[in-house]
Formats: sequence, C-alpha cells, structure tokens
Amino acid sequence: MRVLFVTPECYPLVKTGGLADVAGALPLALAAAGIDARVLLPAYPGLLSRITGPVVASTMPDLFGGKARLIAGRTVDGLQVGLLDAPHLYARDGGPYLGPDGLDWPDNDLRFAALSWVGAQVARGAITGWAPDLVHLHDWQSALTAAYLHIGSTPTSPSPPSLLTIHNLAFQGLFPVDRVAHLRLPPGLAPIGDLEYYGQISFLKAGVRYADHLSTVSPTYAREIVTPENGMGFDGLLRARAGQLTGIVNGIDDSVWDPATDPHVVAPYNARKLGVKAVDKAALQGELGLELRADAPLFCVVSRLTAQKGLDLLPTVLASMIARGAQLAVLGAGDAHLEAALLRAAAQHPGQVAVVVGYDEPLSHRFQAGADAIVVPSRFEPCGLTQLYGLRYGTVPIVARVGGLADTVIDANEAALRDGVATGFQFAPVDASALSVAIDRAIDLYADQRAWQRLQRRAMTRDVGWSTAAAKYVDLYERLVVTAPRS
Ligand code: ADP
Ligand code: GLC
Repeated sequence: MRVLFVTPECYPLVKTGGLADVAGALPLALAAAGIDARVLLPAYPGLLSRITGPVVASTMPDLFGGKARLIAGRTVDGLQVGLLDAPHLYARDGGPYLGPDGLDWPDNDLRFAALSWVGAQVARGAITGWAPDLVHLHDWQSALTAAYLHIGSTPTSPSPPSLLTIHNLAFQGLFPVDRVAHLRLPPGLAPIGDLEYYGQISFLKAGVRYADHLSTVSPTYAREIVTPENGMGFDGLLRARAGQLTGIVNGIDDSVWDPATDPHVVAPYNARKLGVKAVDKAALQGELGLELRADAPLFCVVSRLTAQKGLDLLPTVLASMIARGAQLAVLGAGDAHLEAALLRAAAQHPGQVAVVVGYDEPLSHRFQAGADAIVVPSRFEPCGLTQLYGLRYGTVPIVARVGGLADTVIDANEAALRDGVATGFQFAPVDASALSVAIDRAIDLYADQRAWQRLQRRAMTRDVGWSTAAAKYVDLYERLVVTAPRS
C-alpha cells in the first residue's frame, strides 16, 4: 500500500514540536511494516540541501501566486520526502509558522492552502509513477487537502481516502472569512460553508468535515475532545463524527531516543547499567551550574512554554521542592511571561534551579539522560512525547492525568508498586497542590533507592517504540482503503 503524508514539519528536517517527531518516525515504522509511505512538506530554507538524490517530480507555473516545484529525495534516515519548493511562500528567514518578529506569517493561509493543494494533486495522480492509495493528513496545516480531494472527486476519477490526525485541537487554522476567496475553493460549493467557524474560517474544520476518517494521538484525548469541556468549540462537530474517530497512542523513534547509543549523552547506559546514569546527572548539573549533589533528586522539564503545558504551576511548588533538597532544570521557550517567571525562580535559587531558554535538541537528550524525573503538568495533552522519552531513559515521568499522559504512565500507587507495574506518577486535578503532592511522593520514593531503581527499570522496559502504533495505523489504512466511500 502507498500512503502520502502531508505535514508542515518532519524530524530531522524541521521541528517545532511533537508533530515533527511523529511525521519523521511513523513513516519509517510503516515502511518496516511493508507500507510505501512518503512525506510531503514545504521546502523551508536550507531543506533542499539536506536531502539526497533530489529529482524534480513536478513543476507548477502558478501555485498561489508564484512558481513552484516538487523535489523528491531522501533524508539521512532514508525517509522518502517530497519538498514543495515555492520560494514566494517558504523561502524566508524565520520559523515554519512565525516570522522573526514572533508573529504568524501574514499569509499562513496561502502557505498551507498551497501545501494542501499540492497534497491533493499528488493524491490524485499528478506525479508520474507514484500515486497513493491513501492520504494521511496532520493538523490544520494540511487539513484543506481533504476539501480539495472532495472537490476534485468524480465518479470516474474518485479521490483516494483521507485520514486526518489531530495532534492538537488548540491549533485550528483560523483566518478572516474574506480570505476564502484566495483558497481555490469554488464559490457556492459546500466547503465554504463548511469552513465557517464563529465568524472566521477554520482549515481544521474543513478537515474534520471532509476527511474520510479522523484520528488523534491517544484514546483518552479522543474521548476528551468530544466533550464541551475539552472540545475547544469542535466537540459538536467531532461528536457528529464519533463513529469515525480513533485514538492511537504515539510511539517514539527508539533508535534516536536510546540511552545506550545516544550520541548526545555523556555516558551511555541501559537498564542493566543504571549506575552510569549518575555520570550523566553530574555532567548535567555541571553544565547547568547546579550544585554537584548525587543525592539531590533532579527534576527536569523539556517543553514549549505555553499555557497548555501547565508550567506556570512550577514557581508555586518550587519552594517546597527545594526545601526537600530537590533540584529543577528547565529547557524551554515560548511565552515571554513564563520565560521571565522561570528565569526569576532560577535567580532566586542559584545552584538549585537552572533555566535554559531556547530550543536545543542535543541538550534535550542530555536533560533526559541526566535528570532523575521529568515533570509534565499539562492542562491538556493529546499525547505528549517527553514522558515517553523519560520512560525510555529511566527518567521517571510525573504527569497530569490528562490525554496521552494518562494513557502512557502507570501511577506508582501502592498496589502498582507491589505488582511491579508502576512507571511514574500521575496527579489530578491539574493544580499546584496536586502537583506538589505528586512531587512529594516522588521525593519519598527516591529516598528508597532500591524501590526507585525498580521503578526506573520498569519504565525502561516498557515498549514505547512505534511498532504497536504502526500496526494499528496499518489496520486503519486497510479498512479505509477497502471501505471508505470516495469523497
Ligand atoms: P508538543 O508537540 O505539544 O510541544 P510533545 O511532548 O509531543 O509536545 O513534543 C515536544 C517535542 O519537542 C519533544 O520531542 C521535545 O523533546 C521537544 N522540545 C520541546 N521543547 C524543546 C526545547 N526547548 N528544546 C529541545 N527540544 C524541545
Ligand atoms: C501535539 C501535541 C502533543 C503530541 C504531538 C505529537 O503537538 O500537543 O501532545 O504528542 O502533537 O502527536
């Protein structure tokens, strides 16, 4: 089976969050399961020079206001990618979504409508020699593909089925209504009404309406988003499609995230050589200017700093953590107020709290290797990957009981500890006092090093790779290819 991924980011080429990790690793896991999966994404600056064997697969004289080409090649990992080279849309310094001023690019609607448009063209056979049996869309940036597939479909030339994975319902692709005129959606056709969202248009809504199937990245998040409390205005639409909504927990690339072979860590280790992790801890403490104390439980955070992630709770619980001899290391970037609050906390507790503002992939590996525990206090979390990296690195996750966090961490309550199934700590509700209790429980267990190491080993032996999830996607694809009514 041939599957086309359409995505705005893909590790290792471009990454702002977990979507990139998924778009980079899942196709490789699918390939191992016999699926010919290829990934379409924009050729942001510098990307064309990072693929091998580039060939021009298609040229387009006018793609939303300029010339474009589709360049096919492979990443260093062997992933087959198509880079959409449209300089008028993507060749600019800045991030995939934000300019250097930190604001959304003003033409993000055109940039991602163009990506979606090309996705639909490729899906409908625009490239000689390769057409997918199914299109797998990711988030609002590729959701319009489903509408374009619907519009293009005819009884004699049906479009292939589409699956839209919602990685985060908070990002809905909202734009002013008058922009619809620029999106190559024929006037008078249903999609225009189907894009309307409380006085704006939403690209995600088009995907929710027109994709043959919807999925999200954990079963708990799939249940949460059909409720008014967590549906972010989409719950009614999603309830209407509940029969076509599946939750599949993400995996992680366990060759990139392997403490035994990780090139970024100071001292490689595995579950049998857990003692070596102390070397990574000392190295991290040294690198961050924390006191070199082997006995201090070192908690870490690696995260986008946004309201979603609940990190505003940290300053409140910090004093009691430090009073109990713990240390905290934060790596993150995002909200300026949150950055400032965390930097203030670090200044107040030199040697005990370290905050690195920025995005640093190698350092994130050293955090996972060097810390004793990773804190993920998200208010909502579709899946979450850092707790999975934590499991793999024996860095005990302390997580809010929401979304994928609830699905991937088994709380170290007495019964679970006794049965040897615990892998971390969960807390609810998502507030400072529940977080503080969970951190206290972790510090208590840390004091009993044998029990702590049992927890670490159990976490490290959990299967967090992609093979289980990939098999579930293959099942779903097969069902859709056989049964989906052509849009
Ligand atoms: P989200 O996609 O919502 O940000 P995930 O937990 O799914 O959350 O994925 C976040 C990914 O981004 C992880 O791979 C994490 O290690 C990485 N990450 C987040 N912030 C940073 C940072 N400041 N530096 C390096 N990596 C980061
Ligand atoms: C989103 C979610 C995160 C998830 C990631 C990959 O960014 O916020 O929870 O792990 O997508 O699916």
